Amino acid sequence: MAEVYRRAELAAELASRLLRPGVLDEGLRSGLFLSGPRRIGKTTFLRSDLVPELEARGAVVIYVDLWSDIKASPAALVHGALRRTLAELESPRSPLLERWRRIRGLDLGAAGFRFGFQLAQLGVEGGATLVEAFTELVDQACADLVLIVDEVQQAITTEEGNQMLLALKAARDAINTRPDTPGHFLFVGTGSHRALVSELTARRNQAFAGATSKPYPVLDEAYVAHVLQRLGDDAAMVLPSLPAAWQAFQTLGHRPEEFLRALAQLKRSSRDSGLAPDQLLPVVAATMRSSAADLDLQKVQQLGGLALAIFAWVARMDTPAKGLFSAEAAAAYAAAVGREVRVDDIQPGVNELLAANVLMRLGHGLYGVSDPFVQEIWRERQTS
Ligand SMILES: Nc1ncnc2c1ncn2[C@@H]1O[C@H](COP(=O)(O)OP(=O)(O)OP(=O)(O)O)[C@@H](O)[C@H]1O
Ligand SMILES: [Mg+2]
Repeated sequence: MAEVYRRAELAAELASRLLRPGVLDEGLRSGLFLSGPRRIGKTTFLRSDLVPELEARGAVVIYVDLWSDIKASPAALVHGALRRTLAELESPRSPLLERWRRIRGLDLGAAGFRFGFQLAQLGVEGGATLVEAFTELVDQACADLVLIVDEVQQAITTEEGNQMLLALKAARDAINTRPDTPGHFLFVGTGSHRALVSELTARRNQAFAGATSKPYPVLDEAYVAHVLQRLGDDAAMVLPSLPAAWQAFQTLGHRPEEFLRALAQLKRSSRDSGLAPDQLLPVVAATMRSSAADLDLQKVQQLGGLALAIFAWVARMDTPAKGLFSAEAAAAYAAAVGREVRVDDIQPGVNELLAANVLMRLGHGLYGVSDPFVQEIWRERQTS
């Protein structure tokens, strides 16, 4: 059941607001940031719905995923994606150029675009800068350029990433402020960490201060109805009602994979349990919801008592946690593990949690739980 449920309406709405903003949407020209927890379909929506819709409306779209290679720097990934797009536009038979010709009804003859700089030198000392390359692309294509950066929060965790965001802001300002610009530079960023993504637009010292930040619109009841309809062909299964299925989808944090797993479990269990699907599904969903976080929470437990205490220090906060190495924190850890904790002991514990990707660094001295869903479940368990 890997079939993608298409969200054409949402894509059309976002594309219009980006490319043809009304007065109230002009702020989107400063950048649009969408955030939402892990595994809810952000990347799928970008790639299967938003990118094709923007292209169909004549924009040049560059998509970069900053998690595609955790070892590469954000700047290198953006340069790489830009270079690939430019190279495709320069090569006469590339699929991108073909699409572009078709959509724009352009006759470029046999040739593709020709850019006035060496692509290989892009971003290299003495070569074209991001600002120059983006400007030339907009001017030659006479089109809007949309740069989509998935997992954009990755950029603000390093100095180099921050520099790259400043360069993108400079490109935006250089292109969009020209009175007769043939196209605009639009930036769309998404991220799994809501607190971090909103930092990007809320803090005045951030490159994209003042840009629009919104929660990613999660899959709705129509998606759940679509899944049930597809399952309708399965004679071996008694289906739950739409309200029960929708409730389960919400319990599971609007995650398609978890939802499908719950339905598979329902199919297996309903034969033996004798319960009606609408009675059984809420139980299945509640159990799965809790076990989804187990993997991460087990990792923490395996790292030992001190790691668990550090995790607790971070997880109890809604905002990025600070003071992990303070005397106050050390005293809290000591109380939790029942022995003295020296400040020197804390760093290795934090490092292990970072390496296990349970915690992430959110800036100087600031930490958060990598997966907010895990944090939520952990908190639920503390109070129950
Ligand atoms: N519209 C959809 N129709 C069907 N399945 C979907 C849809 N959107 C997402 N999924 C499924 O949900 C899972 C997570 O999707 P995706 O990777 O797009 O989410 P994400 O929010 O980008 O996750 P991550 O935080 O890992 O980047 C995938 O298995 C994907 O196939
Ligand atoms: Mg993703």
